[in-house]
Amino acid sequence: MILVVGAKGMLGQDLMALLGDRGHGIDIGEIDITSPESVLKVIGELKPEVVINCAAYTDVDGCENNIETAMAVNGEGVGYLAMACRDMGSLLVHLSTDYIFDGGKGTPYVEDDAPCPLSIYGESKLAGEMNAAFAPEHLIVRTQWLYGLHGKNFVETMLRLGAEKDELTVVDDQIGSPTWAIDLARAIVALIDAGCRGTYHAANAEYCSWNEFAKAIFEEAGLNVTVRPMTTTELNRPARRPLYSTLACDKLATDTGLHLQSWRDALRCYLELRSK
Ligand SMILES: NC(=O)c1ccc[n+]([C@@H]2O[C@H](COP(=O)([O-])OP(=O)(O)OC[C@H]3O[C@@H](n4cnc5c(N)ncnc54)[C@H](OP(=O)(O)O)[C@@H]3O)[C@@H](O)[C@H]2O)c1
Repeated sequence: MILVVGAKGMLGQDLMALLGDRGHGIDIGEIDITSPESVLKVIGELKPEVVINCAAYTDVDGCENNIETAMAVNGEGVGYLAMACRDMGSLLVHLSTDYIFDGGKGTPYVEDDAPCPLSIYGESKLAGEMNAAFAPEHLIVRTQWLYGLHGKNFVETMLRLGAEKDELTVVDDQIGSPTWAIDLARAIVALIDAGCRGTYHAANAEYCSWNEFAKAIFEEAGLNVTVRPMTTTELNRPARRPLYSTLACDKLATDTGLHLQSWRDALRCYLELRSK
């Protein structure tokens, strides 16, 4: 059995749908990953072969003012899951982020590149990666710019704003790969089924800025919205973001045979699914 922790989140729900009978989902009502007792009890009772940790504190700006919560959920909680997986002989699959990098490399990041987070969220997720290694059998999957049917995300925000306004301003100096949660779920299952261990990057292919992504969303959705550029400095959000954090996914392709589709094709698939 594959246990999905954080099963009610954006990725968790798409993963559960893909896993079907193989999956068993739990979320904050049934497990609190910041409590070692709660984690040991649940993992000890269910005895899963695999635990996929989708639970996280994902409010990037909120983390800046809630350091303890960020570290407890994204850092220490992963350690409790890892120790429970070690005790039960389970594989721990843990989700991480491009925000562990500082974005200064200038070319796509590979799995072995040195991390250097710019934000509390990034630091807490890096702590989680290190704690995941307490499980002898572990798989860390880094992704970025996630969107899906079941959570707050950039695509849904743009579609909502685009229905209300005919002009928007969106940052054009952050570059990454928008990633559809269903494609990420496919990559995670492919990595598990191929017996992979260690760290992998999984994101849709090709890259763009948030500004280009917003324009593509409006084009594909048939909305006539003018998208003006602005800089990250002008936007002035509490948490610093990496400016160029594209993730190279060659290792995923080589070890599983899975080549994730381009972000633009994935966006089309998402909008088609969403309209049904
Ligand atoms: N979203 C992105 O753009 C993005 C990008 C890169 C990486 N990631 C990573 O991908 C993973 C999945 O992200 P997501 O966007 O699907 O997350 P999400 O929608 O925020 O879902 C996280 C889930 O974890 C639950 N949770 C929070 N604290 C918990 C705790 N102490 N114990 C048990 N469950 C808890 C949440 O419940 P509540 O909602 O009730 O708090 C929620 O159901 C995360 O590891 C995230 O860091 C996300």
